[in-house]
Amino acid sequence: MTDRHNNGLADVIAGETAISTVGKEGKGLTYRGYRIHDLARAGTFEETAYLLIYGALPTSEELQQYQTKLTMLRDLPTGLQTILEQLPATTHPMDVLRTGISALGAFEPESDEGTGQDIANRLIASSASILFYWFHFQTKGVRIETATGSRSVASHFLELLHGIEASELDQRALDASLILYAEHEFNASTFAARITASTRSDFYSAVTTGIGTLRGPLHGGANEAAMDLIERFESPDAAEIGIKEMLERKELIMGFGHRVYSISDPRSGIIKAWSRTLSEEAGNMRLYEISERIEKVMWDEKRLFPNLDFYSASAYRMLGIPTALFTPLFVISRISGWSAHIREQREVKRIIRPQADYTGPEPMSWVPINQRS
Ligand code: COA
Repeated sequence: MTDRHNNGLADVIAGETAISTVGKEGKGLTYRGYRIHDLARAGTFEETAYLLIYGALPTSEELQQYQTKLTMLRDLPTGLQTILEQLPATTHPMDVLRTGISALGAFEPESDEGTGQDIANRLIASSASILFYWFHFQTKGVRIETATGSRSVASHFLELLHGIEASELDQRALDASLILYAEHEFNASTFAARITASTRSDFYSAVTTGIGTLRGPLHGGANEAAMDLIERFESPDAAEIGIKEMLERKELIMGFGHRVYSISDPRSGIIKAWSRTLSEEAGNMRLYEISERIEKVMWDEKRLFPNLDFYSASAYRMLGIPTALFTPLFVISRISGWSAHIREQREVKRIIRPQADYTGPEPMSWVPINQRS
C-alpha cells in the first residue's frame, strides 16, 4: 500500500461545510463563525446547540423557549425503560447510549427525511435520562424519575448522577466542556455520520453511526483512556518516569496529538483552566499536577501537546463523574454538531462512495469444493 492510501485520508478535503472551521489560517476553531473562546467564556451549551442546530445564535426569548423545550423532552417511553433494564450492569455506558438511542428510534421513528432538529433536541435532552435510568437500575435496583426540573443539560446530567442539584461552579464547568465538545468539522464520527446520512438513511441511524465511531480510544474514547493513564501514577515524578518508559516502548499516550492541529489544540487551555479551578475548589491538586507533568514531558520529549481529551479527564473526575461516563458526555454534546452535519449532508443529495485501489489476487479459475486442498 502506498503512503498516499495508507495515511487515513490525512490532508484530504472530503467535502464542504459551513458549520465550523478547525485550525484554518486566521480563523482557528469557530462554530458558524463564532470563536470557541467567546462561546466557552460567555455562552452556554444550550446557546451553542441552538447555534449549531438552527444556524444562528438565539435571542434571549428564543433561548428561554429552547431551554424549556429541552427540559420537557427528558422522559423515556416505558418500552425503552424495559429495554434498558435488560442491559447487564457490566455494559459499557457507550453501548447503553448506542442501544438506547437506537431503540428510541424504534419508539419514535423519524417520519420523513426532514431537518432532524426535533430529534436532535430529543436526543440531547434524553441521553442523560437513558444513561442514568440504566445506571441506577443496575447499580441500586431503583427506577429513577428522569424528568428533573434542572435548567440545563449539564445540571440535568449532574443531578441524575449525584441525586442532588450541582453547585453553580460544577454546572458551569460541565457546561463549558459541553461547548468545547460540540463540534469539530470532519472528525471521524462526524464524517461517519455524514456517510450514513448521504445514503438517505434516518437520523437515528446516522447518530448511532457517530456513537460507534466516537467510542474508539483514538477518537472520543481518548478521554477515558487518558484518565486510566493519569490515575496509574502516584505522583508527578512517578508520571515522568512512567511516561518516558512508555515513549521508549513507542506506546501512544492518550490525550496527546491531533490529526489537524500541529502546535496546540485551542480547546485544551480552556478545559485545563477548568480542571485547575475544580481541583483548587476541591483542595486536591494531585491529578492536575500529574497531568501538568505529563504535558511537560510530552512536549520536551515529543513536541506533542494535549488535546481536549487530556484535561477533560481530570476536570470530569473533579466533578465526581465515573470514567465510563466520559465518552457518553462527549456524545451528548456532539449530537448537536452531528445533527448540523446530517442536515447539511442531506442538502448535498449525493451518496458518499469513494473507491479503493485493488491489491488482491488476479482473477482465478473456480475450484469445485471437492477439489480444494
Ligand atoms: N503518543 C505518542 N506518540 C504519538 C501520539 C501520542 N498520543 N500521537 C502521535 N504520536 C506520534 C506517532 O506515533 C507518530 O510518530 P512516528 O512519526 O515516529 O511514527 C507521530 O507522532 C505522528 O502521528 P500520527 O500517527 O501520524 O498521527 P495521526 O494524525 O495519524 O493521529 C491521533 C492523530 C490523534 C489519532 C494520534 O495523535 C493519537 O493516537 N493520539 C492519542 C489518542 C487521542 O488522544 N485521540 C484523541 C484525538 S482528539
